[in-house]
Amino acid sequence: MSGVLVAGLPGQQRLRDGMADALGADRLQGEIRHFPDGESYVRVDSNCRGRDVVVSATLARPDPLLLPLIYLARGLREQGARRVVLAAPYLAYLRQDKRFKPGEVVTSAVFAGLLSDVFDGLVTVDPHLHRYRSLAEIYRVPTRVVHAGPAIAEWVAAHVERPLIVGPDSESEQWVSDVARRAGAPYAVMEKTRRGDREVSISLSRGPVDPACTPVLLDDIISTARTMAAAAEQLRGAGVRAPICLGVHALFAEDAYEALRRSSPAAIVTCDTVAHETNAISLIGAIAVAVRQLLSSALP
Ligand code: R5P
Repeated sequence: MSGVLVAGLPGQQRLRDGMADALGADRLQGEIRHFPDGESYVRVDSNCRGRDVVVSATLARPDPLLLPLIYLARGLREQGARRVVLAAPYLAYLRQDKRFKPGEVVTSAVFAGLLSDVFDGLVTVDPHLHRYRSLAEIYRVPTRVVHAGPAIAEWVAAHVERPLIVGPDSESEQWVSDVARRAGAPYAVMEKTRRGDREVSISLSRGPVDPACTPVLLDDIISTARTMAAAAEQLRGAGVRAPICLGVHALFAEDAYEALRRSSPAAIVTCDTVAHETNAISLIGAIAVAVRQLLSSALP
């Protein structure tokens, strides 16, 4: 995409390069680092006057990323960038979408406000929309959502014999049903009760499962992996083969990856929205297509 520049954050060069290659765009030159006291330093070297800049930044573990991101977006505007768009394969904070207890801050809305102040548009992959119907409820800028479903269904169809797509909770039904339809496979949805950050219990309420099928446990986010591990445990009790655990966003907090491996799944597979050794399904091309569409249609 001629004229477009792609910027990235430290530690996310692969994402920045993948996005620049997919867009056929130049990489923005500059520097982002921290001073010894922890404050951020941001410098833009490329001439971005009159050019569109795509900032590629996946927002897993977002707190240390947020200030450099805001400084960068502001700096790009000061240097005369025409439009500054955020391509965030994983968009953080969406699960805090309600005041569950009095006095809690609904951080999803505050976070959206901060990003809407400094970016002209946003592209992301399967944001965790549960109580919000769309990003437009909290983001004040045009957005485009890429769905991982088509790429996941293609992977399942190519790699799994007799798949049964299984969602660990009712929230997952939206993507589980879509992937099952695309892959021509049946699906089931389990029931989850969450008692704390790391405490979940899961039950499989439907009748007997075909023992010859290969369960593909599918969720949007794997964070502590307690959801996946508890679901895998339930399936084992149902007498089916070891499941394939498939997540869109591989957050894997703390010991989550080891914990999930200990539940002995047949495989752990994720999309490349958050860099992890389990990434096997690439969405960079689809994100680049959505960025192009946003730049050419939805932004002034
Ligand atoms: C929940 O609403 C999400 O769809 C995931 O099920 C959840 O974020 C998974 O979290 P964890 O891996 O910590 O169990």
